[in-house]
Amino acid sequence: MSTRTSPPLPETARQTRLDLVRRPRRLRRTSALRALVRETRLSPDDFVYPLFVCPGEGQRREVPSMPGVFQFSVDELLREAAAARADGIRGVLLFGLPAEKDAIGSSAYDPEGPVQTAIRALKQEMPELLVVTDVCLCEYTSHGHCGIVFEEEIRNDPTVEQLVLAAMSHAAAGADIVAPSDMMDGRVGRIRAALDQAGFIDVGIMSYAAKYCSAFYGPFRDAAQSAPAFGDRRSHQMDPANVREALREVALDIEEGADIVMVKPALTCLDVIWRVKEEFGVPTAAYHVSGEYAMLKAAARNGWIDEPRAMLETLTAIRRAGADILITYYARDAARAL
Ligand code: PBG
Repeated sequence: MSTRTSPPLPETARQTRLDLVRRPRRLRRTSALRALVRETRLSPDDFVYPLFVCPGEGQRREVPSMPGVFQFSVDELLREAAAARADGIRGVLLFGLPAEKDAIGSSAYDPEGPVQTAIRALKQEMPELLVVTDVCLCEYTSHGHCGIVFEEEIRNDPTVEQLVLAAMSHAAAGADIVAPSDMMDGRVGRIRAALDQAGFIDVGIMSYAAKYCSAFYGPFRDAAQSAPAFGDRRSHQMDPANVREALREVALDIEEGADIVMVKPALTCLDVIWRVKEEFGVPTAAYHVSGEYAMLKAAARNGWIDEPRAMLETLTAIRRAGADILITYYARDAARAL
């Protein structure tokens, strides 16, 4: 490729003055001006940092498809949470990797399970850290499905009963917020009723209200060892083609008692986030999921994008779309970058 030398600019060009009253570029001239008129800001207060807890001691295993993300045993998790806290992170979201799995996911409500143990340890060491827990069966079932399976079908109502047990065990261990991610019908209402009846009236519910059936959860399933052994999640997670359905799902979860609603994934659902926020105005979370994180990591490792800039631009876009709460594996990096 040859570079052409440009012809010299005529002397008159420098004198050219268009008769413009409006010059939007005025406000982009300096960093102080740009900061003054910035409409969207990121703050570590808005970040929730997902963490994977496994059994054992001294474990800190990096997830191959998610560089910088680890499976931690409880002792290592405490260190990571303290480091995150030092970076300014105030909330974590826990996922568990149980020692045993069975057809009904019963280790999801084992009081000595990794998540329950981690909640108690975190609450003892860092009582002010907000502890949110993912409530689902997929990490706990031998077949990797989010619910109880009879004749190859995921059965809604018996699954809800299992989810209630899991949520209750998290609340009993000291969780601040439980976050059902299973997409079964009616689970928010049942969990709310059970929590209230047991006296956990202050334990909140962040529902994965509009959770789409997405290809972007792939790396998470390595991290959480929760890939379905057969079939897929289309019978309960939403079709990415739908948005009015998302509004109906969110309305139901709010009616049933959700305190915070979530849209997931984030980047492919910016319009959904926007509409949910506009329509309901309740605290709205968006989950920048594993595949979205992995894409940025992979491109950065190839030298194809500037990772810190791409990270902040991505999180800003999710915030601009209306998300109040950003759940992101980048929480620590972003908090440090701000
Ligand atoms: C289900 C759950 C999933 C994620 C969060 N909760 C996976 C799934 O639905 O298959 C995905 C999060 C991510 O991809 O980062 N317990």
